[in-house]
Amino acid sequence: MKIIARPPAFTYIKNHLHADRVPLSHLAEKHGTPLYVYSASTIRERFRTFDTAFKRIHHTVCYSVKANSNLSLLKMLAKMGSGFDVVSGGELERVLAVSRQAARKVVFSGVGKTAAEIDLALKADILIFNVESESELDLLANRAAKMKRKARMALRVNPDVFADTHPYISTGMREHKFGVPLHEVGDLYTRAAARKYLDVAGVSCHIGSQITAVDPFAKALGRVADLVRALQANGHNIRYVDAGGGLGIPYKDEEAETADFSAKSGAYAEALRNALGKLSVHLLLEPGRAIVAPAGLLLSRVLVTKQNGKKRFVIVDAAMNDLIRPALYSAYHSIIPEQWNPMQSSAQPVDVVGPICETGDFFARDRELPALKEGDLVAILDVGAYGMSISSNYNSRMKAAEVMIDGSSAKQVRKRETVKDLMRLES
Ligand code: LLP
Repeated sequence: MKIIARPPAFTYIKNHLHADRVPLSHLAEKHGTPLYVYSASTIRERFRTFDTAFKRIHHTVCYSVKANSNLSLLKMLAKMGSGFDVVSGGELERVLAVSRQAARKVVFSGVGKTAAEIDLALKADILIFNVESESELDLLANRAAKMKRKARMALRVNPDVFADTHPYISTGMREHKFGVPLHEVGDLYTRAAARKYLDVAGVSCHIGSQITAVDPFAKALGRVADLVRALQANGHNIRYVDAGGGLGIPYKDEEAETADFSAKSGAYAEALRNALGKLSVHLLLEPGRAIVAPAGLLLSRVLVTKQNGKKRFVIVDAAMNDLIRPALYSAYHSIIPEQWNPMQSSAQPVDVVGPICETGDFFARDRELPALKEGDLVAILDVGAYGMSISSNYNSRMKAAEVMIDGSSAKQVRKRETVKDLMRLES
């Protein structure tokens, strides 16, 4: 069988999996498992590639913090000039903690913002609020008036475009809770323009996540561009168009092996540029997954192997609380052994599962893997996005530690939680 890692960051050197030049077995010894391991070089490279793809348009890449909100990762991106897409006061606080200047490049999205969150963002003088309803428009106008600070704002429109992805993460259709329907935005823009402390500055949209075709993005942005032309003709000073995030990555090995992120970003940029046509606007982009997903793996140790009837189970020490994507979206993640000798060709179908008391606690079902025994290490791939950021303490499990690899250095960027952390806020 063929085992495919994720070069250049994650490769086999002398039959052992490494992150850059660091052996994963050493990291497991030092930091324990389950352990999130990120490659700084991959994150930098992907950010640069994506940003460069848009070099022919005025733009700002606003990395979507929800994908992975680790402070060291945010700091690295801020240093590279990234802006940020946030959806809560907590995410904004994280950005402020790593760089107060970066707050000027923050777009604030989300369907339910509180007055406190809006105040925090007004104080931080963020770039723009993406407003998603009439009520939010009024709330923002009132808070801004109270603070005597002008709020730059865009309305997030719902372009009613179908994107082929998991139904839980498709957001741009009429029946979804997101944005304002296209035919209603005209009135809201008029209403916004009448408010003294609102600066009507943009239009935004986001149609979903893990979308691998570029056509739906082009279709949605084409509708946004028509709207911008109409609004500009009506005297609104629209300078920003926010195309949202959503560009998917290849999770399957064969696709990952031949993937060319530069070509993909290029095609995406080209599609968006064409959709904008001759509009003179500053383009905002909110990628999360495309920047960080392939840059992370989850290292886990086999606790138990067992045979139940015809089924062979490999029970590892990571679980759905650490990585919920397979349980929640039936998502596919490649799993590879830490030790791999290409001369051994035998493989057997196994279910790789966690120790949590739910049948949904699995990482792979009927997956062909080389024989694994108790104590072996495995790596679950492409978990840099929506891995740690959606982890929980379910079953009173402590959250995993996180390590950032940069060349030959391995820095712990989040400690493993302790029992004390687990109970700290309870009486
Ligand atoms: N902008 C907005 C307004 C969003 O709602 C999202 C993601 C993004 C940007 C970033 O999208 P990305 O480029 O990462 O696709 N937990 C799910 C994904 C949820 C995405 C939610 N919104 C998963 O694990 O697949």
